[in-house]
Amino acid sequence: MRTTHEQRHHHGWRRQAAALAATTGLVLTMAVALANPAQAASTLGASAAEKGRYYGTAIAAGRMSDSTYIGIANREFNMITAENEMKWDATEPNQNSFSYSRGDQIVNWARNNGKQVRGHALLWHAQMPGWAQNLSGSSLRNAAINHVTKVATYYRGKIHSWDVVNEAFADDGRGSRRDSSLQRTGNDWIEAAFRAARAADPNAKLCYNDYNTDGINAKSTGVYNMVRDFKSRGVPIDCVGFQAHLGTGMPGDFQANLQRFADLGVDVQITELDIQQGGNQANMYAAVTNACLAVSRCTGITVWGVRDSDSWRTGANPLLFDSSGNKKAAYTSVLNALNAGNGGGGDGGSSSIDTGAWYVLVNRNSGKALDVYNLATNDGARITQWTRNNGNQQQWQFTSSGDGYYEIRSRLSGKNLDVSGKSTADGGAIVQWTDNSGANQQWRATISNGYATLISRHSGKALEVQGASTADGANIVQYSSWNGANQQWQLVRVG
Ligand code: XIL
Repeated sequence: MRTTHEQRHHHGWRRQAAALAATTGLVLTMAVALANPAQAASTLGASAAEKGRYYGTAIAAGRMSDSTYIGIANREFNMITAENEMKWDATEPNQNSFSYSRGDQIVNWARNNGKQVRGHALLWHAQMPGWAQNLSGSSLRNAAINHVTKVATYYRGKIHSWDVVNEAFADDGRGSRRDSSLQRTGNDWIEAAFRAARAADPNAKLCYNDYNTDGINAKSTGVYNMVRDFKSRGVPIDCVGFQAHLGTGMPGDFQANLQRFADLGVDVQITELDIQQGGNQANMYAAVTNACLAVSRCTGITVWGVRDSDSWRTGANPLLFDSSGNKKAAYTSVLNALNAGNGGGGDGGSSSIDTGAWYVLVNRNSGKALDVYNLATNDGARITQWTRNNGNQQQWQFTSSGDGYYEIRSRLSGKNLDVSGKSTADGGAIVQWTDNSGANQQWRATISNGYATLISRHSGKALEVQGASTADGANIVQYSSWNGANQQWQLVRVG
């Protein structure tokens, strides 16, 4: 902008050329943004991200050297679960002696490739180490809580969601707890685990995860009653995972079941999806995708493996890629459903503003977060977008200044989003500045369908990613509001 400004002063002919170029650029930008409002993503992860959600897979450490396997995982998915490497038998093979190398192999690969991680699973009656299988009563309870604390502490800050407790309900048609040595330590073992996990990693979402809970039935109602009880008593729980290991049919009330849990005030996630090969596989994959997109608190879907040959369900061919790594009809059906679906809700995507909370502001067009460039703490530092990492430089708090306007304060610097130099121009830079209660530091937030538009009280212009850029480091500016995807922000609550 500065070069253009100088040109305007020093070279009359250049001024016109620059203005023409700017206008042409604008028209092109708008045409691109309108023709492609982030609707033609070509991978599952990118398409889900445009809907405020993730699309994940389980990964096995032992397969990571297979280049076809890891290539598909890297290309298509943005959430990773360790298929076995973070379970109790893997992480604590001897009591109080922890082994994280195989879990780290997966977690580090995911993070190095820009993916998030679901932690699976802190406590489960299966895949317990032999020493724990030999314990009971208070010694088992103590060992279990110690396990939760140690593992969640080790991975603190690296986990999007933890399956704190896995498969604790029975298939008895009565919604009872499963009989297990853990259950026999006392009915409160699950809440004790959730409290220990919260203390160890306050920023991870804490989930209860189970199978055969995908429709409304006695077992899912047992889980529902537990979650409702936890919410009413303040036991920390944030999400419920539905494994969704499906046969050739799916419950007609799949979406309604997700919705009733969401209505309790928890997120819901499809955590281990695989669907038996059959005439209906592709349609069922689409139906699961659509159900998640229709529930604003359904934050993502994970499939339980990459290729059919990687599946734990031998012979079922239940995944999205065939054994050669080719996309199956089921894959295309998921991608089409994601691309066609509505984008309301998703991961956070708050529909109202809580002035006590911290939010990451994710741009609808780029999927990147509003970020104080280079961790600056000085007045005048520019604001850009950057790949989301939930750092303090990406966290913002809204303070009401009345009439629907808010100051938006950086957690890193304590400074406010500010229209630089009280500009009223399109393209005016957005910086951070010490709070001065100016109208150029106040923003009207209008949230619709899970996305906020932020309009400056001073200029009446909208906060946007300049030129609908998708690059890290692209500038945030103000621009006349035209409802572009680059002017829409998902408010993802992180604190
Ligand atoms: C399975 C793995 O896929 C297998 O490799 C392993 O032998 C057994 O566990 N529910 C769960 C997952 O929560 O952890 C299970 O994973 C599948 C059923």
